Amino acid sequence: MITGGVSDEAASASAFRLGLPNLGDGVGLRHVHFPHLMATAPSEWGVDWFEIISENFLDHHGYAAHVLERIAAHRPVVMHGVSLSIGSIGPLDRVYLRKLRELAERIRPAWISDHLCWTGINGRNTHDLLPMLLTEQSLAHVGDRVRAVQDYLGRELILENPSSYLTFHASQMSEAEFLARLADATGCGLLLDVNNVYVSATNHGFDPVAYIERLPAEHIVQIHLAGPSDCGTHLIDTHDQPVPSAVWRLYALAQERTAGGVATLLEWDANIPPFAALLDELGKAKAARSGAMPEAGEVRPVAVGALSTPIDFQLSR
Ligand SMILES: [Fe+2]
Repeated sequence: MITGGVSDEAASASAFRLGLPNLGDGVGLRHVHFPHLMATAPSEWGVDWFEIISENFLDHHGYAAHVLERIAAHRPVVMHGVSLSIGSIGPLDRVYLRKLRELAERIRPAWISDHLCWTGINGRNTHDLLPMLLTEQSLAHVGDRVRAVQDYLGRELILENPSSYLTFHASQMSEAEFLARLADATGCGLLLDVNNVYVSATNHGFDPVAYIERLPAEHIVQIHLAGPSDCGTHLIDTHDQPVPSAVWRLYALAQERTAGGVATLLEWDANIPPFAALLDELGKAKAARSGAMPEAGEVRPVAVGALSTPIDFQLSR
């Protein structure tokens, strides 16, 4: 049952992260589901909250903005960005930050998140989440930038662990240690993507359990679930299939470590199923939290022709 935009389960959760609530179970707002959500009463939506990709709405004042207004009137919304480039050595993009703040003033998100990565250089956005060099110097650099962003936005920044496909010989610490120290130094929150942990752990050969156990649980305010693709020699973070068994096991561990529960979000960005099927997949999270591991398979091969991007409707503009 939904009360005031937050489910009973979510509302009764005792644990709060950095003063932020457990929003319950949500899905990413994707344009293929706009018709369904607009034609359906909010009481029938079946989700506790929605996560938007901020970039899809920064310059959108048309129908997408209209849809978002309706969503935000009935459910908590979280702004999830892909262009902050917090790890870049270039200056912070003040125009982007201004647009981010203006959108936040309009829709009043529960929080604002992005990724531990860099996305480009010299003002060019590669539209990819590029891996960080993990050194004492980069930690200090990113820490300064996180503080600047937090000061500008007037709230904690929530940073997600990205999936990665290479690491640097010059790195001096693990990604988990980097995130833990960054959170400690800046007070930022963490968005723990257990799928990304699984992808990176498989690609680089580290222990995903040790990674999750290294993170400061008190800073974790949200969890991402998704299904990656098997490319033979490595996994790719495609968000185009059901959550595999290995990721559900990490999800259960993450929930256990964050006693009381943390907001859960299912990401699905290619071969997006009908909304009802999305809800079926999301429903497995509740089972996983209660100790009943969901029935799930192994990671499947990458789908031919699938375009995996959460900003797909912006690409055609
Ligand atoms: Fe994610």
